[in-house]
Amino acid sequence: MSIQTIADRVLGEIQQRGTYRRMRRFDGTQGPRMRVDGREVLAFAGSNYLDLAAHPTVIQAAQEAAESHGCAAAGSRLINGNMDIHEALEEDIAKFFGLDSALVFATGYMANVGVIPAIVGSGDLLVSDALNHASIVDGARLAKADVAIFPHGDVDELERILKRESSRRREILVAVDGIYSMDGDVAPLSEILPLCRRYGAISLVDDAHGTGTLGPRGRGSAEQQNALEHVDILMGTLGKSVGSFGAFVAGGLTLRDLLINTARSFIFSCALAPPAVAAAQAAFRVMDKESERREALQANALRLREGLARHGISTDPSSTHIVPVIVGENAATMAVCETLLHEGFHAQGIRHPSVPEGTARLRLTPMATHRAAEVDALVEAVATALSTPERAAAV
Ligand SMILES: Cc1ncc(COP(=O)(O)O)c(C=O)c1O
Repeated sequence: MSIQTIADRVLGEIQQRGTYRRMRRFDGTQGPRMRVDGREVLAFAGSNYLDLAAHPTVIQAAQEAAESHGCAAAGSRLINGNMDIHEALEEDIAKFFGLDSALVFATGYMANVGVIPAIVGSGDLLVSDALNHASIVDGARLAKADVAIFPHGDVDELERILKRESSRRREILVAVDGIYSMDGDVAPLSEILPLCRRYGAISLVDDAHGTGTLGPRGRGSAEQQNALEHVDILMGTLGKSVGSFGAFVAGGLTLRDLLINTARSFIFSCALAPPAVAAAQAAFRVMDKESERREALQANALRLREGLARHGISTDPSSTHIVPVIVGENAATMAVCETLLHEGFHAQGIRHPSVPEGTARLRLTPMATHRAAEVDALVEAVATALSTPERAAAV
């Protein structure tokens, strides 16, 4: 057996399924207009929703931190890497959400695979929405807890599970995404969180895509539903709308202490690099100062959804800045994606295993700084590409 034989077998199977992937190359800073594989395009596929990754204040903060603290934390937080700026960022994040504490992780993936096993273990129960992010699925695997999956957004089924299990289990953790990353719908938190309270379950909201983008003050999907105070564990990323790198888990004081002592992805991993920490800290301040970015993002998202609807193109169930257009078949989806790139739009096609088989789609993500005319141009290009699949296939 060699790597060559493994690669031939595995990649052959992936190719046969039509899910072979390659990375495109992006030049310059992340923003609404970019060079992708050597072509000037409007970028509608990233998660830098508020366009903070290249915001002058954010860049300056990263530069200054590199000067004052260097480029690396050079170790884990528990050994030598806990620097003043990590603690300052965590205090700022906790304050931003009105919570007692926060702890930063290297990525959102690491946060979820760290926090879930810290809360539930063998014999406990994780109750998980069917469309939760892969990092929640993997966190459940590491936790070795029993898992009950409820159909996406089905609050009645969630209640049936909680009613059945609450007297039998030591701990129950209910995990949901705030915004579903491939569908753009928002979890019904105003119903889910009270249910958790009623049945004594702990709630985990992964608001990777809601942080900074939803709610009257950008505190996310729970704030949008007036339910932030009922969240036990709030997870968010720093690499999406925050325009930096990393993630956080926020909640009560004891949560932070518990994670520091038990979350293996925190304990056995290097602390965030100072420039990333300072960039995130600056970005949270910019979010508060420039709330018009959030408003512009949602205005662009609405314009995109309404524009596509006028062409009879469904973006269900999205109500946010993640706007799916389901094509269905893998090859057709990637052909539309290539056509759009050819026409000057980067709109990534998403296939299994990121989405269920047969629901391959374009995942369109406008940014706060796209001009209305650019959003309109995307609408026309998508409508044309979808209506002439033979042209798409020929590109
Ligand atoms: C819902 C959700 N949770 C977690 C993550 C992981 O975050 P990160 O990219 O910081 O690892 C993502 C990333 O795409 C996500 O969409």
